Amino acid sequence: MVESTIIPTELVAPIFAPSTFGSREKIQDIFKTLRRDYPLSIAEVPGFDPHWIVTKYDDIREITRQDELFQSAQRSKTLASQYAEQLMREYTGGLPHIFRTLVHMDEPEHADYRGVTAPHFMPQAIQAMEPKVRETARRYADRLAALAPECDFAWDLAFHYPLEVVLNIIGIPPEDHAKMLRLTQWLFTYADPDLKRPGSDPTDPGEIVKTWDIVYAEFKEYYDKVIADRRGCPRDDIASVIANGKIKGCPMEDRAMISYFVIASTAGHDTTSATTATSMWKLAETPGLLKKLQDNPKLIAGFVEESIRWASPVQQFVRSAKEDYVLRGRQIRKGDLLYISYISGNNDEDAFEDADVFKPERSPNRHIGFGYGTHICLGQHLARLEMRCFWEEVIPRLRHLELTGPGAMAESEFVCGPKHVPIRFEMT
Ligand code: HEM
Repeated sequence: MVESTIIPTELVAPIFAPSTFGSREKIQDIFKTLRRDYPLSIAEVPGFDPHWIVTKYDDIREITRQDELFQSAQRSKTLASQYAEQLMREYTGGLPHIFRTLVHMDEPEHADYRGVTAPHFMPQAIQAMEPKVRETARRYADRLAALAPECDFAWDLAFHYPLEVVLNIIGIPPEDHAKMLRLTQWLFTYADPDLKRPGSDPTDPGEIVKTWDIVYAEFKEYYDKVIADRRGCPRDDIASVIANGKIKGCPMEDRAMISYFVIASTAGHDTTSATTATSMWKLAETPGLLKKLQDNPKLIAGFVEESIRWASPVQQFVRSAKEDYVLRGRQIRKGDLLYISYISGNNDEDAFEDADVFKPERSPNRHIGFGYGTHICLGQHLARLEMRCFWEEVIPRLRHLELTGPGAMAESEFVCGPKHVPIRFEMT
């Protein structure tokens, strides 16, 4: 470990740029070096406030389990330049973020908002959804079979299956699913040349805020109508739960309510699509893996879990320190920003044996792909269910599988996964 608390800019600046995330190898190399030489040190990248870069699994858990000390609402929750954060405050009349979802709240407000939908995402409620989810998974397995002998698994399938599952649960009709996918991609991959908003300019330092503001406005226009509809005529869907949700007996604040819909209809599928595409990539490139899972279908749950660790689609979230705190011998000061790298924590050699080997039999698999602490992913049980159902339907039917070319990762420093997974395959 190097004693300096400042990381050389040339080493750390690339993790502040969306384009670097187009190469998984580059990202893994940088975090490997950081874990070894600068496990908890400061990045001083021009245009950004200084950030502690938190790379070690234990440190990430220590920070994220103390939400009262490491807060989510005071500063931008995702990596943002000084200019972008200032712009967000201008656009929103003072907030450091365009969206005000659960991830952007602190206690006790966070618990009140989370409580509105939490019972619908608990293991028992999710288990009850299995027949419906399995029916959708079976339909998508048939759709995959119909695409044989070749397809781009990310583009043709992985983008669509989790989208349909979660939007059906929210209560969004099929004719609007394509719109939801488009807005999600603009939001999470605002800088990717293939997925970004047409006409947007990722070299503009304010682009992320402009795009997010446009996405927020489109979602608001759409969900205002859904809210009015479900208030007048509630149904058995999550849209009705959110639209009629009360916080201490009062309706939700407007931006928080729209943002509740936004997180469910964006994070609720993009992350799962990224993980599903990663699973297929691993399956196609790892000799013997398909046969291992076909011989032992009970391993499919472990395959899903290891895919989440491997994919870690949520790259980072930021916390700000409410008080001084000592961690790993370093003095963190009140107000300091901490960049929490989930992908680094999930590859920490001190936390995972053979961290760089994909092992479906890893048990226990204590990855932090869903985060940790009170902000731990609300949709984790749903994500696991839909991926397990899908692979249980697909794996027994696959007869042959190979990559036909290099896959490609989306360029995003926030939510990131494969955008192309070209495969050749046979299915029964
Ligand atoms: C929160 C990852 C699927 C909804 C989170 C967080 C992570 C994450 C890392 C923590 C944020 C933080 O540190 O503040 C993932 C991954 C998924 C996935 C890897 C799939 C493999 C889903 C699904 C939903 C969902 C299917 C469905 C609704 C949410 C919500 C939160 C959240 C609402 C905010 C929780 C809170 O702040 O209390 N997710 N997610 N996610 N996720 Fe997921």
